[in-house]
Amino acid sequence: MSQDISTVAFIGLGVMGYPMAGHLARAGLDVRVYNRTAAKAEAWVDEYGGSHHPTPREAATGAELVLVCVGNDDDVRQVTTGEHGALSGMATGSLLVDHTTASADLAEELDAACRKQGTGFIDAPVSGGQQGAENGALTIMCGGSETDFASAEPVLSHYGRAVTLMGTAGSGQLTKMVNQICIAGLVQGLAEGLHFAEQAGLDQQRVVDVISQGAAGSWQMENRHKTMIADQYEHGFAVNWMRKDLGICLEQARRLQARLPVTALVDQFYGDVQVMGGGRWDTSSLLRRLRTLGAR
Ligand SMILES: NC(=O)c1ccc[n+]([C@@H]2O[C@H](COP(=O)([O-])OP(=O)(O)OC[C@H]3O[C@@H](n4cnc5c(N)ncnc54)[C@H](OP(=O)(O)O)[C@@H]3O)[C@@H](O)[C@H]2O)c1
Repeated sequence: MSQDISTVAFIGLGVMGYPMAGHLARAGLDVRVYNRTAAKAEAWVDEYGGSHHPTPREAATGAELVLVCVGNDDDVRQVTTGEHGALSGMATGSLLVDHTTASADLAEELDAACRKQGTGFIDAPVSGGQQGAENGALTIMCGGSETDFASAEPVLSHYGRAVTLMGTAGSGQLTKMVNQICIAGLVQGLAEGLHFAEQAGLDQQRVVDVISQGAAGSWQMENRHKTMIADQYEHGFAVNWMRKDLGICLEQARRLQARLPVTALVDQFYGDVQVMGGGRWDTSSLLRRLRTLGAR
């Protein structure tokens, strides 16, 4: 059954959604898109074909699978269960997949709303950034039933290199929270290491060349050290998005009685970066914060 999906809707053509939807069109699927700013949807159709629609509901009508990638919980509610939302256009037996990084509560809420009207639901946040979306190499962490996952997985594989079912609805979002918790402390550690090397008068590039081969190596070190040394942050994953994600992690941790002292501290450091005007800078800009404080 899963291989039979031929008509999909994609809602939210941002940095991530635009190239993800593009992979589906290139794979030969009939893609119906919606974007709040209509000009982006028009540009997408000019580039990839398919069709654009004035509301999520109209985009979702006739689609076997509806994919969403917008900003936060409330944005997802607006385009799914809100007025003119996708759910009101979805037929019984169709399936909703949410790629937005959002709360596990929202996933459970959407799962219940979908079940009520006889549609399936998968929460499916992604990791891999803009580069991963453009190269079709995202890691996709899914929550939902095995049947729904089996239907969605072949479609998600067009832009996902690792597509994994983690458990019931909400499990994908919980796994993404672990991902962000692991990254937060690591990026601060990398920023402190490069800051220390600079203050010590070491050649930072040579330091990275040596230590990246050993136990200190990481994706962040490999992919971000050059721009960090050059103090360039106009790219990558925005601090504003990271604060949204860490807020979700900290709220979930409070309810789970999990202790996240370093994550909470790094969240405050990102608050400082926002005050510095860096809301849209890459998360590696924690180094600019240290350089700025160090210069005082
Ligand atoms: N960028 C990354 O590296 C990355 C990596 C992993 C996960 N994520 C997550 O993926 C999601 C999307 O990120 P992105 O970087 O693609 O964001 P983005 O470039 O800011 O795009 C957001 C998209 O959502 C739409 N949108 C936002 N609020 C909406 C609303 N209330 N109603 C309708 N449409 C709305 C925007 O429409 P307009 O065009 O009209 O603004 C745009 O299409 C976020 O949850 C983010 O945390 C991002």
